[in-house]
Amino acid sequence: MKHLTDTSSLGYDDIESLLERATFYIPLVESSEQDAITIRSKGRVALCFFEPSTRTRVSFETACMALGYQYVLFQTNASSIEKGETDLDTLYTLRAMGYRTLIIRHAENGFIGKACSIPDTSIVNAGEGTRAHPTQALLDASALRERTGDISGLKICIVGDIRHSRVARSQRDVFTRMGADLSWCAPDNFAPTEPEWLDMHRYEGIDEALKHTNVLSMLRIQNERLGPYMDLDLPAYRTAYALTAERAVRNSKVIVLHPGPVNYGVEIDHEVMDMPGCLIRRQVTHGVAIRIALLSALGPR
Ligand code: CP
Repeated sequence: MKHLTDTSSLGYDDIESLLERATFYIPLVESSEQDAITIRSKGRVALCFFEPSTRTRVSFETACMALGYQYVLFQTNASSIEKGETDLDTLYTLRAMGYRTLIIRHAENGFIGKACSIPDTSIVNAGEGTRAHPTQALLDASALRERTGDISGLKICIVGDIRHSRVARSQRDVFTRMGADLSWCAPDNFAPTEPEWLDMHRYEGIDEALKHTNVLSMLRIQNERLGPYMDLDLPAYRTAYALTAERAVRNSKVIVLHPGPVNYGVEIDHEVMDMPGCLIRRQVTHGVAIRIALLSALGPR
């Protein structure tokens, strides 16, 4: 494996292998003895975050430390981008400093593809526009498989702002290939537009989805990408699509995923965090394990 641009660039066996590796690293991530997760190897990584992040950035940093890699964190603010340097030129600059593994978060669809043209460099997509967030879907699969034993046959419904979600697109690819029965639930202005979603069952509201599925993958309303939808009728949205406290009580057995960050009181209520099937915190732990697994599979450069 040279790059990780999206999950479709992984074969089924690659996905299985990464999930197996992540399973191996979970106890190390949970260990209170920090030295236990240091696997000394030589590697240099540049984390290139052109968009804000907490989970993805910190878990890649933690993965680098776990592997004994040296890393730098590049963030747009206070950089020469403020003086007009382009984002792509920034990557070439980091490459010229000797960094051959570039982990990139960027708001523009297609930017990761442009980065792959930098010679002799491994590119890892840490979330790109609305197109793909491969490590998120892999960590979701890892957390879900830990809870259920097998993703094949699970009835999973993706709920919320699918149109603006990179996570939904990567989940669709990974969960479908792992044999899940995938469906979706969103209002028209958040509905996906790509043809591959048309073959999937669409639930008209979350109550219908809760009747017929085992797992809900809840999505944040992507306020930063909404544009013309800023006049969203929030109370109406919550009535039809939110996992409210009352729904959480009535459906205590459902498994809940959410990539974070969560907008409490919008797509889910705080009470959801207490549901036995809520995997939201567990997903974060798997995020570290899957990123250690990925970087170790790519190998030090
Ligand atoms: N899920 C996710 O990508 O979160 P961050 O934006 O905090 O990295």
